[in-house]
Amino acid sequence: MYNYIIFRLGLFLILNRNILSDASCSLPTDIKNSAWEYNYTKVSDNSPQSTILRVSTTTLQNSIINLSAFGTKIRDWTCINSLALSNTQTLVVFKSDSTFSDGPSKNYRLYLCMKFTKVTPDLYYFYLLSDIYNAVTPNERVFVSDEGNPTANDAPMCSTFCKYTGSPKIRTLRRPETRDEIPDKAALCEPCDSTCQVDRCDPNPCQNNGSCVDFKENYNCTCTDGWRGKNCTTDINECLDKQRTAMCPQHSDCLNTDGSYECNCKNGYQETNGTCTGDKMSTEDKSTDLGLKIGLSAGIPVLLLVIIIVAFVIWKKRTRQSTFGVKSNTNSDGHKNVENELAEVEQNLVVKT
Ligand SMILES: *[C@@H]1O[C@H](CO)[C@@H](O)[C@H](O)[C@H]1NC(C)=O
Ligand SMILES: *[C@@H]1O[C@H](CO)[C@@H](O)[C@H](O)[C@H]1NC(C)=O
Ligand SMILES: *[C@@H]1O[C@H](CO)[C@@H](O)[C@H](O)[C@H]1NC(C)=O
Ligand SMILES: *[C@@H]1O[C@H](CO)[C@@H](O)[C@H](O)[C@H]1NC(C)=O
Ligand SMILES: *[C@@H]1O[C@H](CO)[C@@H](O)[C@H](O)[C@H]1NC(C)=O
Ligand SMILES: *[C@@H]1O[C@H](CO)[C@@H](O)[C@H](O)[C@H]1NC(C)=O
Repeated sequence: MYNYIIFRLGLFLILNRNILSDASCSLPTDIKNSAWEYNYTKVSDNSPQSTILRVSTTTLQNSIINLSAFGTKIRDWTCINSLALSNTQTLVVFKSDSTFSDGPSKNYRLYLCMKFTKVTPDLYYFYLLSDIYNAVTPNERVFVSDEGNPTANDAPMCSTFCKYTGSPKIRTLRRPETRDEIPDKAALCEPCDSTCQVDRCDPNPCQNNGSCVDFKENYNCTCTDGWRGKNCTTDINECLDKQRTAMCPQHSDCLNTDGSYECNCKNGYQETNGTCTGDKMSTEDKSTDLGLKIGLSAGIPVLLLVIIIVAFVIWKKRTRQSTFGVKSNTNSDGHKNVENELAEVEQNLVVKT
């Protein structure tokens, strides 16, 4: 996220402040002094075009990017600034050598704001970052300077690129007689395509407390125990894992749950300190799969019965103790103890990881 903000800020400053000072131009080395097979889609009629674009060190002379603006032919461009965005991406701005007027005493220039991405030394693609300017023929994505020449230093230049009317189409430059292809599935970053800069871990796509690592075009989740899958949304069935099942004590059943598992003592067995032991008391009252599926209506009467019995036994015990003059807890404390014991019993019934 941080990088993204820096990037956008950098772009904003360069485009708005520096570019018009004709500072310096540094075209990607591969591109300079070469002729390129230039494929693009015509803005005015969406027809595919394949032609040759010749680039010198800093100019496009007598160029295939030739436009007519109010009767003026514009086909010579000079690179006035560039900005390396990364090892593979460069922003380059060309200014038209000639000016045009839409009436007396009005000098305008056109600018080409090109964002190049290198695929291989023989293959580049680029987008024109400005919005479509309908006053030129053929219609093209060019920026128009303010009236007069040169334009004011705070002219928005390429900054209209995030307000496209319609998505810009990719344009390729391939060295003639070479065969490199744009990869089908490559994330071809459009100028305003946030997916190229976005932090893929924000918001965290990894569910169930999984941790996320952000990569250029993807992310990796590290899931917590019990979960797997791209987004940690697939429960691991621990009961199918022989080693884990072996961790359930003898006389118990493994029950898979979301992100975990339970070991529930089989009928007739009682959970004591992590093991399931045979029941010494009357078995019918001790529905032992006490995992007690809390909320299962069938289990509630049983639970109530157990509570009553335990309460009765404890009460009996205490009454006897008092009888023998042994110092005992008050009633309310005694009640609390029953609760604690019950809570303990319940807690021990379900062994969770
Ligand atoms: C450009 O277009 C030509 C003609 O359609 C095609 O043969 C060539 O493969 C295209 N180049 C790229 C890089 O797609
Ligand atoms: C001007 O550009 C068009 C394509 O837009 C091309 O067909 C034509 O040959 C170009 N003219 C010159 C003189 O380069
Ligand atoms: C994630 O972890 C927090 C704190 O460790 C915990 O409160 C929360 O229940 C966990 N969420 C899930 C879905 O496991
Ligand atoms: C993501 O994690 C998997 C499994 O640990 C690993 O094989 C893969 O290389 C990781 N992806 C990246 C981009 O590191
Ligand atoms: C993972 O999460 C992302 C973002 O929430 C979603 O687009 C994607 O479809 C999910 N993938 C799977 C396999 O669930
Ligand atoms: C419960 O088992 C653990 C070891 O599994 C042992 O250290 C502990 O003393 C036992 N507690 C009781 C009350 O038996």
